[in-house]
Amino acid sequence: NRVHRIAVIPGDGIGKETVPEGVRVLEAAAKKFGFKLQLDDFDFASCDYYARHGRMMPEDWKERIGQHDAIFFGAVGWPDTVPDHVSLWGSLILFRREFDQYVNLRPCKLMPGVPSPLAGRQPGDIDFYVVRENTEGEYSALGGRMFPGTDREFVVQESVFTRHGTDRILKFAFDLAQKREKKHLTSATKSNGIAITMPYWDERVEAMAKSYPDVRWDKYHIDILTAHFVQNPDRFDVVVASNLFGDILSDLGPACTGTIAIAPSGNINPERKFPSLFEPVHGSAPDIAGKGIANPIGQIWSAAMMLEHLGEVEAGRAILQAIETVLSEPKLRTGDLKGPANTVTCAKAVADALA
Ligand code: NAD
Ligand code: IPM
Ligand code: MN
Repeated sequence: NRVHRIAVIPGDGIGKETVPEGVRVLEAAAKKFGFKLQLDDFDFASCDYYARHGRMMPEDWKERIGQHDAIFFGAVGWPDTVPDHVSLWGSLILFRREFDQYVNLRPCKLMPGVPSPLAGRQPGDIDFYVVRENTEGEYSALGGRMFPGTDREFVVQESVFTRHGTDRILKFAFDLAQKREKKHLTSATKSNGIAITMPYWDERVEAMAKSYPDVRWDKYHIDILTAHFVQNPDRFDVVVASNLFGDILSDLGPACTGTIAIAPSGNINPERKFPSLFEPVHGSAPDIAGKGIANPIGQIWSAAMMLEHLGEVEAGRAILQAIETVLSEPKLRTGDLKGPANTVTCAKAVADALA
């Protein structure tokens, strides 16, 4: 009798519309595959919560969600009311750091029925993972502003690449590459211009590669790597990158496979000391929020990743198959994919295909 305890956090904007639809599909999967879900809803990590409490989360947020098996998250950010760096550093980035979710795993897969903006690409041609470092690197709050308001004003911000933090993300990526058919790893670097942290990154990649003689590996500077994503996406299998480079690559990759709206992600603590968090790659989409038209597939695919993480591998794969069925049917797609469906009808179609 498997029971999974999930903290459900919609956040802001379209997160409030897509999360309930992800939950709909999770419940359908539980019914079909014979496991139970204990779903606990939380209203914090949202700019609405900030408006009421003057902060993004309660003081005891860690106690309130730290014992759950996973976190199912929507999106956060409402720049009209709370500056993005305040809302994000007060919620999502805290989750990633405090729960040591140092892997951000983001699949880029061309799906049947979703046209790629790249000419001549078919499903099967693009199928890789971006493995993004998720707790350090260029994302830091280390630094400051000097001489504010004067003509001597300047700002400094440090990047941090620890040996521990670099080696563990590289190990995760090499392990993943080793398990895949192509056994190919690509490292994103910029050691020509960023003269301390990136040569260090390269050095650690080279050292780690020695433990994986069966994994073929290469590296590209981030600038030409973005060009190869567009021109030769079939070249990639596992792409490992620092926090910022991984952020950029994990919007570009899904854009090459049609749209970021269907892209999922797992913020993973592989040691399972803390809960991992599953969320779409996209944000709160203020431009379409409240209209009921957001594509729910990124959220639903994230649910599939969460179930696989929780050991419900069969259920996770079945959801992905149901997603493929729905995307292949023009009348079940949402407006961003030129279909007539809305958030709810698209998600219901996935739940039906699953059942
Ligand atoms: P965004 O991903 O929210 O939106 C970018 C564009 O994609 C918009 O035109 C939007 O309408 C469209 N889009 C996104 N998801 C969609 C979906 N499911 N269906 C249809 N269209 C979709 O990125 P942004 O505009 O840069 O950011 C908006 C807010 O979200 C900001 O506050 C930002 O900081 C935040 N954000 C949060 C996360 C997160 O929670 N993980 C990720 C990215 C951005
Ligand atoms: C993402 C988002 C976040 C990030 C932002 C909202 C801080 O873009 O999850 O990719 O940069 O990690
Ligand atoms: Mn991003």
